[in-house]
Amino acid sequence: MSGYTRGIAWEEVQRVAVSVREVAATAGVSVGTVSNVLNRPDKVADGTVRRVHDAIEQLGFVRNDAARQLRAGRSRSIGLIVLDAGNPFFADVARGAAARADEDRLSVLLGNSDEDPVREDGYLDLFREQRVNGVLITPASDDAEKLRRMQAAGTPVVLVDHEIPGSGYCSVSVDDVEGGYLAVRHLLEIGRRRIVFVGGPSALAQVAHRLAGARRAVGEVADATLEVIEMPALTVLNGRAAGEQIVVRPAGARPDALFAANDLLAVGLLQAVTMDGTLRVPEDLALIGYDDIDFAEAAVVPLSSIRQPARLIGHTAVDLLLRSIDDPDGEYDRNVRFRPELVVRRSTSG
Ligand code: RIB
Repeated sequence: MSGYTRGIAWEEVQRVAVSVREVAATAGVSVGTVSNVLNRPDKVADGTVRRVHDAIEQLGFVRNDAARQLRAGRSRSIGLIVLDAGNPFFADVARGAAARADEDRLSVLLGNSDEDPVREDGYLDLFREQRVNGVLITPASDDAEKLRRMQAAGTPVVLVDHEIPGSGYCSVSVDDVEGGYLAVRHLLEIGRRRIVFVGGPSALAQVAHRLAGARRAVGEVADATLEVIEMPALTVLNGRAAGEQIVVRPAGARPDALFAANDLLAVGLLQAVTMDGTLRVPEDLALIGYDDIDFAEAAVVPLSSIRQPARLIGHTAVDLLLRSIDDPDGEYDRNVRFRPELVVRRSTSG
């Protein structure tokens, strides 16, 4: 039978619509065995598994996930919504999440909100339509209502790198107040006193908490001061822009240390200072970031940073999600909080 549908040759459509029955016939097994190979391969002899996969490859079979999803009520996926997919911190969170999801043969679908609550809403709607097993999210705002609706509709939510106390959501985070305190206490311990905090939108809890920790550390030293420069987003270019403001200041108005709310800002600050050439890091200007992404260690002046265990955060978030599904009333910690770690490198040494 020849013909066309939506510009695809009918034969093509036939090939795309290869059935499980054809795979079974080609492999010389029953339809049930093909289903077992696809869903429970550990229950099938290795030789049979190989024959079925050879038939799948030979015929170009593509499983019809929509039908299976309807039967099983859920897809084989988990939604992950991050603030900035361009930030290596979130790339590592996603890697850790995918590694744990793989153990249960689940996939992680990544959504990037770009810190925009409207984009975030779009992904929450998409993942609900996709009937994901659950959603991991670093929220762009503290609007818990939309997450509450998600959870009430039967899609569990785990907060990543964030916690909303009293919300009832599982969460995996780092104590950012302690992290900010560690960063600025370190600057004070190397003798710096005129400190500038270069942050992002104060609406982001991570930024607000790191600043709170910085303020606590400065408050413990009588002659220390803390100035805040708030940038619209936590990016390298915004770090560059902040650095360009700082290097042109007259000597009496310059800081002697910078604490960047994340490593991307810190890399941008370092670029601006290095390109200008007036000031040296760390001699004139100590610099510390946050996250300890790979670029921190690889920077032209290796950056001190506050390390977050990004992959472990992602791995733990999936583990917590699956526990909340399989054992909703179980005895386990629903709000996991990791300790931040000070990593000292050249940018604050001496
Ligand atoms: O995206 C903003 C920041 O929040 C990231 O750099 C990471 O630190 C997260 O906690």
